[in-house]
Amino acid sequence: MQDIFDKAKEVQTAIDAESPANSEALEAFRIQYLGAKGLLKSLMAEMGKVPNERKRDYGQLMNSLKQAAEAKYQSLKEAFEEKEQSAGALAIDLSAPGEPVPLGARHPVAVTMNRIIDIFARMGFSVADGPEIEDDWHNFTAMNTPEDHPARDMQDTFYLVDAPGMLLRTHTSPVQARVMKSRKPPIRIIAPGRVYRNETISTRSHCQFHQVEGLYVDEGVSFADLKQTLYYFAQEMFGATKIRLRPSFFPFTEPSAEMDIWLGTDTEKDYRLTKGTGWLEILGCGMVDPDVLEMCGIDSKKYSGFAFGMGIERQALRLYEIGDIRLLFENDVRFLKQFRSAM
Ligand code: PHE
Repeated sequence: MQDIFDKAKEVQTAIDAESPANSEALEAFRIQYLGAKGLLKSLMAEMGKVPNERKRDYGQLMNSLKQAAEAKYQSLKEAFEEKEQSAGALAIDLSAPGEPVPLGARHPVAVTMNRIIDIFARMGFSVADGPEIEDDWHNFTAMNTPEDHPARDMQDTFYLVDAPGMLLRTHTSPVQARVMKSRKPPIRIIAPGRVYRNETISTRSHCQFHQVEGLYVDEGVSFADLKQTLYYFAQEMFGATKIRLRPSFFPFTEPSAEMDIWLGTDTEKDYRLTKGTGWLEILGCGMVDPDVLEMCGIDSKKYSGFAFGMGIERQALRLYEIGDIRLLFENDVRFLKQFRSAM
């Protein structure tokens, strides 16, 4: 009789020790223990030999054996099924067509900027860079605009509360000062970038816009060099046949001028863009004021130079026949994706 209990305990130990490694082994486990001719069935068949007063104990032992075997079987079965499913998900069909990835597009302002850079690069200008958060000295003082100068009112900007004397640059001209202070002539650079003005004072629609600055300093640089350089640019950029230089004023250039390009009024867009005059104002320019050269450590007796600064947005409008400057900053993807083919 004790034999029967011993045998049942042995089976119990065996079940605990089993660990089928895959679904075939698990099926073998099921047949061996839980099958119609399995070990548990044959142990149950021994019940008749157990004395009455121990039938209860034996029954309980049988129950716990059955539960242990079934629990092991169920949990392993689920684990193997899960494994098979995720293995199936990983099986990639390499011949299936790929998901289309939408191509991004450069912003029309960036495209225009790159075109400007290209044209000046052909004339030997290299790209220089300066910070958008600028100090007062580079943005104004070095550009011949001391603190009480009325020209400061024209370029009101945003001042940093936590950093006195720091501001968002109002033009790319401070890069002139940075370059002149750190290099010796000949200097031939352009400096594209973002600039800021307080829109309640500026007439621009937006308090942030883009400019490209140009600076050429060497021995014997003349106004004729300035004119020819800008004429070449106008031809390359717009196919313009005529430019016009109107006398103007900037504190950091002397003499100063504003350059217009001739677009004519043949198309309605050109008529509108030029306000019916045929001329589009593109940039400010002039001969670098000798005081500016001296402030930046360059001998104004030996060297002379010219500088210019142009807004990019208006050029982008003309280049891509965009009717409203605000479209450039709304970030409407339907608008922006039209420039996919531009570089
Ligand atoms: N910085 C001037 C502006 O923002 C443009 C300019 C640059 C004029 C260089 C002359 C020389 O209006």
